Amino acid sequence: MKLSQLAETLIGSEIVKLGNAISERVRNGEKIYNFTIGDFDPNIFPIPKELEDEIIKAYKNHYTNYPPADGIVELRSAVSSFLKDWEGLDYASNEILIASGGRPLIYTIFKTIVDEGDKVIYATPSWNNNHYVHMTEGVHCKIEATPENNFMPLASDIAPHIAGATLICLCSPQNPTGTTLQKDELAKICDLVLEENKKRGDNEKKLYVMYDQMYWTLTYASTVHYNPVSLRAEMKEYTVFVDGISKAFAATGVRVGWSLGPAFIINKMKAILSHLGAWAPMAEQKATANFLHQKESIQKYLTHFKSEVEERLRKIFEGFIDLKNSGFAVDAVSPQAAIYLTVKFELTGKKTNNGKVLEKQSDVTDYLLSEGKLAVVPFYAFGADKESPWYRLSVGTCKKEEINEMFGKLEEALNKLY
Ligand SMILES: Cc1ncc(COP(=O)(O)O)c(C=O)c1O
Repeated sequence: MKLSQLAETLIGSEIVKLGNAISERVRNGEKIYNFTIGDFDPNIFPIPKELEDEIIKAYKNHYTNYPPADGIVELRSAVSSFLKDWEGLDYASNEILIASGGRPLIYTIFKTIVDEGDKVIYATPSWNNNHYVHMTEGVHCKIEATPENNFMPLASDIAPHIAGATLICLCSPQNPTGTTLQKDELAKICDLVLEENKKRGDNEKKLYVMYDQMYWTLTYASTVHYNPVSLRAEMKEYTVFVDGISKAFAATGVRVGWSLGPAFIINKMKAILSHLGAWAPMAEQKATANFLHQKESIQKYLTHFKSEVEERLRKIFEGFIDLKNSGFAVDAVSPQAAIYLTVKFELTGKKTNNGKVLEKQSDVTDYLLSEGKLAVVPFYAFGADKESPWYRLSVGTCKKEEINEMFGKLEEALNKLY
């Protein structure tokens, strides 16, 4: 049956396809080191106990009715204080919108700003921008980011495309790369946006930045998180943030996210969101509001959580560098943030021990899965070139004791290639 143009042309998710292949193997009894999931195993990374207690308390207090369309005022004001205290951002309650996680906010930002045919600039690899541009019938303006820049876009990459653009999607720390925008580069991007907007007339649509900082609390070692508004105050007029508790508190299934932006945009987003009904549940809003004020608990939680994630990222990074130093055609980018590591398998052209040549990158992905029992997501799934040898490795479900085992299997599989 013929359905809508949108439904008929949706871009299939490569991650879902890979997930099915993994499930099939697991069903057949194979042990797979599955590092494809951009989520947390709650047995390894539970949500903060204080947040859990607050959620239970809220349900016991029967907070089960509809929340207000923009979120309960206690939560908007808790988000406002939290971001002031922890990130130095100044947003009033009427510049904050609550929703059930980051996704409905991103969709709503697109629906609020982007018309059919509008140019949307985003880097590849990046998480899901291609889908949102498709769903709003925008024009994709993809910037291929390079390993030399830790797969983050540069201002000079964006500059040639900025005339006539409607939205720039930036994400830092970035999914899938686990890397961040550098201060100078982000400042240069902000200057481009400000300069462009000065040229536009009062009746013209301005150029906006969607700044997805879902992972901003998860930075490691000397990595610092920057945002457009702290670097250039004038950017407040043109920036809409996407943020929430999904990654900061390993609370992906709790479904509380927030956007910050100019009140006139937030108001329109609220109106659109009210038709979607994608609000965060009332009880979770109450609970998150109470939790965000508990500074000591948050600090304690983040210190432990971050050190556990970082330890896994570092161990796996070092393992890849050891393999590289032993002459294998692999590589990795030093982890900076989030729960992801960027790794490389440059194995096309090699032969397996039954004489089959790994002709395409998808053969490499299959070989890693079948022989190495290792599942990672090709950057191709994030809009990069089909033949890109780079992959996302997520540690959200990684048990520490599996790391050595995984490297043992991987080295065995690499050794079989010639
Ligand atoms: C960069 C980024 N932004 C937003 C989201 C969406 O988060 P949520 O689970 O709150 O919808 C994700 C989820 O993976 C993400 O990686």
